[in-house]
Amino acid sequence: MNYKDDSGFAGQLAYIEKVREANLTFFEKEGRKKKAHILTFGCQMNAHDSEKIKGMFEEMGYVLTEKEEEADFVIYNTCCVRENAENKVYGNLGFLKHRKESQPNLKIALCGCMMQQPTVIETIRKKYKFVDIVFGTFNLYKLPELIVRNEESGSPIFDIWKEHGDIVEDIPEIRKCDFKASVNIMYGCNNFCTYCIVPYVRGRERSRKPEDIIKEIEALTQKGCIEVTLLGQNVNSYGKGLEEKVSFAELLRQINDIEGLKRIRFMTSHPKDLSDELIEIMAECEKVCPHLHLPFQAGNNEILKNMNRNYTKEKYLSLIAKIKERIPHIAITTDIMVGFPGEGREEIKDTLDIIENVGFAGAFTFIYSKRTGTPAANMEQVDGAIVKENFNDVLSAVNPKILAFNQKKVGKVYEVLADDVSAQDPSFLTGRTADNSLVHFKAGKEDIGSIVNVKITDCKTFYLMGEKI
Ligand code: SAH
Ligand code: SF4
Ligand code: F3S
Repeated sequence: MNYKDDSGFAGQLAYIEKVREANLTFFEKEGRKKKAHILTFGCQMNAHDSEKIKGMFEEMGYVLTEKEEEADFVIYNTCCVRENAENKVYGNLGFLKHRKESQPNLKIALCGCMMQQPTVIETIRKKYKFVDIVFGTFNLYKLPELIVRNEESGSPIFDIWKEHGDIVEDIPEIRKCDFKASVNIMYGCNNFCTYCIVPYVRGRERSRKPEDIIKEIEALTQKGCIEVTLLGQNVNSYGKGLEEKVSFAELLRQINDIEGLKRIRFMTSHPKDLSDELIEIMAECEKVCPHLHLPFQAGNNEILKNMNRNYTKEKYLSLIAKIKERIPHIAITTDIMVGFPGEGREEIKDTLDIIENVGFAGAFTFIYSKRTGTPAANMEQVDGAIVKENFNDVLSAVNPKILAFNQKKVGKVYEVLADDVSAQDPSFLTGRTADNSLVHFKAGKEDIGSIVNVKITDCKTFYLMGEKI
C-alpha cells in the first residue's frame, strides 16, 4: 500500500503530535520518558538519514539512548552494499527476537537501503515476524505516521516505495556535533556500475536546489558550524535536471562565499565526470579542502569496461596528473575493489600499477561481494583463493604508499580541526587536517570544535601524531 501524498513533512506534524501525546501519557504513568535507539549501518548518506530519524524521534518526545538494551524503540538503518553488511543486520535481529519475547512492548523498526530489496522484505515477513515497522529510503520522513498506524492497527506495517517522490525539505535533524555537518546535495545514482546495488535502492539521481542547500548551510554556520561535507553518490554530476542549471563547481563557489564557514568537503566524485572547472574551483576557493576522494575500483581496462565505469586506467592516471599539477598539495584518496568477475592474477597488476603511480593518501579496500539483481551477479565469479591473493597484494602495495605520504608530513605544522577526545587516551584529542589526515595530539577538551596549529611529530599508516603549538 502506498501512502504517498504531496504534503511533504508538514503532513507529518499531526502524527508527531499524536505520538508525543501518547509518550506524555507514558511519562505521567511510568515516571520516565520512552527511549529510542538507532543503529546505523553503511555510508555517510545513511548516517545523515539517521540524523533526520533522530530529529523526528526527539520531536515525538522520545529520548535517544546509545544503549540498545535500555531502549523501548529500536531502529536499524540498514545497508546492503556488501553481503556482510546485511548479515550483521540479520545477526542483530536474532538477538532482538529474544528481547521481544521477554519485553513485548519493545518496538522494532527497520529502514534503509536493505529494505528496498523485495527478497529482504520476503525474508522479514517470513522469518522475522516480530518486526513492527519496515520502511525504505524514499519515505523516511513518514516515520511518525508509520508509528501511529502500527499503534492503531496493532499489526506490523510495511511501507516501501519503489520510486522516489519529491525531495522533502525541512525534516528536523539532530546532528552529531555543532561545528561539523553533512549536507545532502543530491540523492540516488544513475551510473549503474555493474557490481553496485545503490542505484536500485536509492533510486534515480536528483539534485536539491542550490538555494535550499545554501539556506541549510547558512543556518548551520549561524549555529557555529565551520565545516560541511557535501554528500552525493556522484557529486560531479550535480545539477542535472534542475530548472536552473548549476554545476557542482558553481555550487562550490557559492558555498565558498558563506560567511563563517571555514572548510568545505565533498564526496564522492566519479572520475568520468570530474571537470576542469571543478579542478579550477578547488584550486581557487580557499575553503574547499585540498582533498579529493576519487575511487578507481580497478586498473584493468577490460574490468573497468565490464564494471561500466566509463574510464580507462590511462584516463584515470592522466586525470590525477592534471589535478596534481594544478593543486600540488592535494591529498587523493580512493576506493579499490578486488575480485570483480574476470579479475585474475594478471588483471590485478593494473590495479597495482595505479597504486604505484598515484601515491594515495588513503584507500578503502573492498572484496567484491555479489549482489543479487546486479548485472555482475550473472557473470562468472572469481575463485576465492585468487581473490585473497590479489587482495593481499593490493594491501601490501597500498599501505606503504599511505605511510610514505604521511611521513612527508612529519616536522611540518598543519591546521587541525579538533573533533573529539581520543578513545585511547583522554589527554589527547583527534582531528583532521584540511587534507583529511587523522591526527592525535595532546590538548585539552576546550579546543574541541576549533582549528588549532599542530606540529606533526610522528606517523603511522592510518594516523599522525602531533603537538599543539
Ligand atoms: N558512489 C560512490 C561509491 C558508493 S559505494 C562511487 O561511485 O565512488 C562505496 C564503495 O563500495 C564503492 O566505491 C565500491 O568500492 C564499494 N562497493 C560497491 N559495491 C560493492 C560490491 N558489490 N562489493 C564490494 N564493494 C562494493
Ligand atoms: Fe554505485 Fe557506481 Fe553509483 Fe557509486 S557511481 S553508487 S559505485 S553505481
Ligand atoms: Fe550507503 Fe550502503 Fe545504502 S553504502 S547508499 S547505506 S547500500
